[in-house]
Amino acid sequence: MKQISDFEEYKTVYAHAIANPEVFWEDKAAEFHWFKKWDKTLKWNFTEPSIKWFDGGYTNLCYNCIDRHLEIRGNQTAIIWEPNDPKTPSRLITYNELHKEVCCFANVLKDVGVKKGDRVCIYMPMVPEGAIAMLACARIGAIHNVVFGGFSAKSLADRINDCGCTLLITADAVFRGDKKIELKQIADEAMADLTVISSPQQNGAIKAIVFNNRNEPVTMQAGRDFWWHELLETASSDCLAEPMEAEDPLFILYTSGSTGKPKGVLHTTGGYMVYAGYTFNEVFRPQSGHEIFWCTADIGWITGHSYLVYGPLLNGVTTVLFEGIPNWPDPGRFWEVVDKHQVNIFYTAPTAIRALEAQGTKWFEGKKLDSLRVLGSVGEPINEEAWEWYHKNVGKGNCPIVDTWWQTETGGILISPLAGITPLKPAYATLPIPGVQAVLLNERGEEISGNNVEGNLCMKFPWPGMARTVYGDHERFKNIYYSTYPGYYFTGDGCKRDADGYYRITGRVDDVINVSGHRIGTGEIEDALNEHPAIVESAVVGFPHDIKGQGIFAFVICNAKIDNASILTTEAQKLVFEKIGAFARPDRIVVVPGLPKTRSGKIMRRILRKIAEGDTSNLGDTTTLLDPSIVDIIKHKAAELSETL
Ligand code: WT7
Repeated sequence: MKQISDFEEYKTVYAHAIANPEVFWEDKAAEFHWFKKWDKTLKWNFTEPSIKWFDGGYTNLCYNCIDRHLEIRGNQTAIIWEPNDPKTPSRLITYNELHKEVCCFANVLKDVGVKKGDRVCIYMPMVPEGAIAMLACARIGAIHNVVFGGFSAKSLADRINDCGCTLLITADAVFRGDKKIELKQIADEAMADLTVISSPQQNGAIKAIVFNNRNEPVTMQAGRDFWWHELLETASSDCLAEPMEAEDPLFILYTSGSTGKPKGVLHTTGGYMVYAGYTFNEVFRPQSGHEIFWCTADIGWITGHSYLVYGPLLNGVTTVLFEGIPNWPDPGRFWEVVDKHQVNIFYTAPTAIRALEAQGTKWFEGKKLDSLRVLGSVGEPINEEAWEWYHKNVGKGNCPIVDTWWQTETGGILISPLAGITPLKPAYATLPIPGVQAVLLNERGEEISGNNVEGNLCMKFPWPGMARTVYGDHERFKNIYYSTYPGYYFTGDGCKRDADGYYRITGRVDDVINVSGHRIGTGEIEDALNEHPAIVESAVVGFPHDIKGQGIFAFVICNAKIDNASILTTEAQKLVFEKIGAFARPDRIVVVPGLPKTRSGKIMRRILRKIAEGDTSNLGDTTTLLDPSIVDIIKHKAAELSETL
């Protein structure tokens, strides 16, 4: 694929893409294989909203990721699997082998009754079979719904119910570090909890395919649960890639918002493919020949979809899939893996960088890291200190860092340096990539022009990778993203544009918190907390956390005097763990007699945020509160808690 060659060209291409967006994107789309060319490049309006890219065109994402490369790269490694335990051998899978495995599994899917348009839930550890399952779905036109392996049975069941999956693909168990997670057992609990299965041909039943990852004992329910390896025994390796209409759904991925339950963000085939492939190439800039790319994200998040599986494979590079965690068996693991597999491009999250920074630089001893050429960051704002540490210790001062800003809803990167092309500035996502029209809006919804300004980040023109709807609830899609500022896509992020026109994301402006790069709605945590028999009401806010970026602070009102706050804390944390997952557990829980509410009953979160931050010098105007005296009491309780920590 073509790449921009210098910063001057970036500016020209950027301007060209604004002036002639359709010509620009036709050119990008033409880099891929289409069974039938599209009739219309773009049809859109942000009112309904309705967005159609490459309408009338037929393609297949899996075909473009694998089959298209076989002639020239059949024997090249497509996936390097690095296991949790460094003593277990790695697995190298060539493009030819991947083709065979995906085709066989695609036939397995068909054999168990999966058809084009059916939803398939993937609840898998970080093993190649996770990626194979995704690619196999894409091959036959089934819509995958990958659920991160850290989610609880309840969260898994909610997601299966919401989009009516007829098949669940999972594994017996996985080790992350020395901790065992029994996925099949969690899946069993989830399957016992299903209420809505929409597919009439499945008679309200769900089937499960279980990959034997660890030889752990599991209960298999006859007629419902099937072993992956047993189904594979009779599967043919012949499977045509189904021609998919560009706007046919490709996958659903659940993500949290400020209100309500997590929503199923829907991406479609043609636009997502073009966008994931284009952004991977232009931002990370793989060189021709053999490039090894390592994205540490889990396949259960959008980063894993776009830049662990689809983006790299669309570009014919080798992608590293790592089962483990950064600090096991020791905090040098990432660097050992980089040297072992001679990784050229390394993409991780600020939270991992900060966690490793806290362990000191001795973990770099004996590590070369000289294969690295480009570094990337994603998921949350990266602070300057972490940026400098990453640049100096991992990149040895030679590797550009691409701080990539994007979202589950955007499908791919929107604002980021192009590695080695865009002049860098620590902690800045820098500039929108060509084809992206970012604007800052003020509270009145007016575009803020000029530089040295701050506002709410919006997009004023569509790009192919954008989400098309929220599964089953287009009205909600419209309300969340297109009604705050009519005519614009609203990201939910605040942003500064500095004197050079560079963008710096300041964080969410809604009730969403970002913990270690994982997005969680405060309302979801509150709902879980409120199920505790002693908790009457709760309010959750984020607070700055050295490693996680944001921590979770819960203020709770109890229905009786609490004698032992630490028991309540433990129980409440366990509840959140069961309802959502470990990563959503509150770091701090403080019992308060009341919450700062306005006369209309709305909680003034601004005040709670300040208190959680420990910055109580200026809490702003509290006169509109029903009971302003509650503020001092909450302040006092929070201060007491921080003394005991
Ligand atoms: C939110 C999206 C994009 C994949 C991972 C997270 C924050 C993401 C950055 C960045 C500052 C960032 C934003 C965004 N975010 N990347 N480089 N700098 N903030 O996906 O769960 O959909 O969350 O993550 O707040 O809105 P997500």
